[in-house]
Amino acid sequence: MIYPIRLYGDPVLRKRAQPVQEFGGLKRLAQDMLETMFEARGVGLAAPQIGLSQRFFVAVEYADEPEGEERPLRDLVRRVFVVANPVILHREGEVEGLEGCLSLPGLYSEEVPRAERIRVAYQDEEGQGRTLELEGYMARVFQHEIDHLDGVLFFERLPKPKREAFLEENRMELARLQKEARALLKELSQG
Ligand code: NI
Repeated sequence: MIYPIRLYGDPVLRKRAQPVQEFGGLKRLAQDMLETMFEARGVGLAAPQIGLSQRFFVAVEYADEPEGEERPLRDLVRRVFVVANPVILHREGEVEGLEGCLSLPGLYSEEVPRAERIRVAYQDEEGQGRTLELEGYMARVFQHEIDHLDGVLFFERLPKPKREAFLEENRMELARLQKEARALLKELSQG
């Protein structure tokens, strides 16, 4: 099943999500979230982005797309991460890099600061405890998704002057997204 993705302005994106306690339906949910993410051509999707305020996300490491061909993303999957109740145990280094978000389609910043390397503890879809060391791009993706679980969006990681510039430059688009988020919520509440 493909879920509608909640947009900037939806209050669920601002809430601190609750720990996952029930692992029964998680495999199915992970499949549906991956399908939703492939459809939207994303690298990660957090549960609040489908309206579920739970500490859970999926992320994928992709192989590079062959030059000049657009392949369905699912054909380029190198590794799938299904992550519940993540905790960052250790951070090292700082790098700026490009980020966007499926809840802020079309908006990007190239200067989002993140730790270069992290160690993360989490539970997999069966509730099994795991730890993982990540660096570079996947470390960035995990930090972005974990922020979603705390109600934080990528531009809020920018230092204040850059954050203000981002909000100013994208003022019209952000207002449009908020309007669209409200329309989607209304549609969903009417079933
Ligand atoms: Ni995002």
